[in-house]
Amino acid sequence: MNILGIETSCDETSVAVISNGELMANLISSQDFHTNYGGVVPELSSRAHLQIVMPLINKALDKTGLNLEEMDVISATAGPGLIGALLVGLTFGKGLAYSLGKTFIPVNHIEGHIFSGFLMEGKPDFPYLCLVVSGGHTLLLLVKNDFEIIKLGTTVDDAAGEAFDKVSKMLGLGYPGGPMIQKYAEMYEGELIDFPVSRCKNRYDFSFSGLKTAVLRLIEKEYGGVGKVPQKDIPLLAASFQDAVVRALVEKTELASGEFNAKSVSLVGGVAANQYLRNALIEIAKRYDKKFVVPSLEFCGDNAAMIAYRGMKLYEGGYRFNFDFNAYPGLKENPFIKEYKSAD
Ligand code: KG4
Ligand code: ZN
Repeated sequence: MNILGIETSCDETSVAVISNGELMANLISSQDFHTNYGGVVPELSSRAHLQIVMPLINKALDKTGLNLEEMDVISATAGPGLIGALLVGLTFGKGLAYSLGKTFIPVNHIEGHIFSGFLMEGKPDFPYLCLVVSGGHTLLLLVKNDFEIIKLGTTVDDAAGEAFDKVSKMLGLGYPGGPMIQKYAEMYEGELIDFPVSRCKNRYDFSFSGLKTAVLRLIEKEYGGVGKVPQKDIPLLAASFQDAVVRALVEKTELASGEFNAKSVSLVGGVAANQYLRNALIEIAKRYDKKFVVPSLEFCGDNAAMIAYRGMKLYEGGYRFNFDFNAYPGLKENPFIKEYKSAD
């Protein structure tokens, strides 16, 4: 069975092909020009997707030696994400599937990330704890199987990646912030500033806006405002901020590792590219005797391989969708994700 996956939810256009369970191509075209604006400009993003999506599909197919007619399923990200950007990939996918008489499977972007560990050789074992950390989402999940996910916690304000991006801006390091913060943090050796980790009502929830404000207050007090931090102090601030985010993420994952009988721990999403976070979670998994699975960098950020993989699972699970299935920008009721009902 052959599946074509299309991802256009934000600033990456990506196309992937899975053939008989094997990933044959995963092409990612990043819209780097957004760095000039300090963040993603939605309208420019949609236009760029529109220009590149078909050439990228052709390029991906070329790589596999297969043609469009040989695809059985066409899957595309339906949401959440930027509505204009989503509409490009989704409408393209629908149009192709309709005109070629193929099955069309819309895929939830977060579900794509959740199962992205399965793109690796050492796949997670069910049930597994999944920490989803991206620009838009921070979730701690217990994934029981392909279609049953328990949501243990989420962020009550900013997403982890969003916090990286905002603090990067405060330090004058630009967008996307995560890789820049990591780069500067790696230059620092020594004592860190002890930024506080916020407490939440639900013990598995996260909060990053207090941390962001703490960094801002410090920059204002010590340096007289945003953009005034001298180059020599940026590594200290980057390392201290990164450490505080990672402490928060690790603390909740450790708590869940002790409470739930999970076999694996999987770290996914754009922020999963962060080496400091990876190292910290490797330690937790070791301590709790769980297998640790993190996708390679190519599958951490937005990519179509995870969309094709999820499309394949939905197809195999018998899920079918109509062509009037529409794109959705925000979170909507997810049939596979249930809220955790704590005993206390
Ligand atoms: O999953 P993703 O590509 O897009 C969304 O679905 O949101 O995640 C993008 C986020 C950005 O906020 C970016 O700053 C962050 O991932 N990121 C990182 C690193 N690389 C990307 N955060 C921390 N450290 C990194 N090395
Ligand atoms: Zn993503």
